[in-house]
Amino acid sequence: MNQSPTIISKKPLTVVDLSAMKRQGEKISCLTAYDASFSAVLDEQGIDVILVGDSLGMVIQGQDSTLSCSIRDMVYHTRCVTRARRRALVIADLPFMTCTTPEVAAKNAARLIQKGGAQMVKLEGAKVAIIRFLVEQGVPVCGHLGLLPQSINLLGSYKLQGKEDVDAAKMIEDAKQIEQAGASMLVLECIPAQLAKEISRQLNIPVIGIGAGVNCDGQVLVLYDLLGIGTGKRPRFSRNYLQHAENIHEAVKAYILDVKNGVFPSQEHSF
Ligand code: KIV
Repeated sequence: MNQSPTIISKKPLTVVDLSAMKRQGEKISCLTAYDASFSAVLDEQGIDVILVGDSLGMVIQGQDSTLSCSIRDMVYHTRCVTRARRRALVIADLPFMTCTTPEVAAKNAARLIQKGGAQMVKLEGAKVAIIRFLVEQGVPVCGHLGLLPQSINLLGSYKLQGKEDVDAAKMIEDAKQIEQAGASMLVLECIPAQLAKEISRQLNIPVIGIGAGVNCDGQVLVLYDLLGIGTGKRPRFSRNYLQHAENIHEAVKAYILDVKNGVFPSQEHSF
């Protein structure tokens, strides 16, 4: 049976709503945005979550990694996005080296929330003590495991993570610790679909996948990959929705419906 997006009311979504969506089995749709115009389009089409990702370093600024993206850039783009959204919950990334200690993370999260207007911050890796500290200060946190773009200089390339049993077991353990530290959500990037399914099953918080198969509680894509534009190569796990749509609004709507109905990602977009 086809499921249509929950636009029960235009009231802004909260972390409590997202957690209820997981319990009720409604998939959560998420896309990145970095400016007011795209934020308005996504929001009008009924996206649940907008992520102001540090991917902006690549798709907006044309850098070859996310590493040069600063907290100042993040605050500026988050402000642009939150000005235009009405219903979607906005998550902003803590970029490279902005959460080296709990105090540094708290100072930077405060900027994203107070100046940027974000409702949640996302940070890469199993930084459990930092997540716990932020949550104690009242900051909703989204974890991020799997492929960690901020660790590109350690990884060597953007490749599938968690393939070996030992790495998969560690990821499951890290995910549980992130939940126990109080995180409200978890992003899993570029990991085998079976592993993402298992993590989504074991956690109570919503798990949002990107290149992590269809059995997560929701999906996120970089908007420009979905529109088939950008300077780099489109990742195998993304899909160009503009190819079969009349315009950007329709492409976004088709993506939301595919996520809600568990049609995206297909096998072809999974590992
Ligand atoms: O920066 C970003 O856009 C992200 C997504 C790829 C999840 O972290």
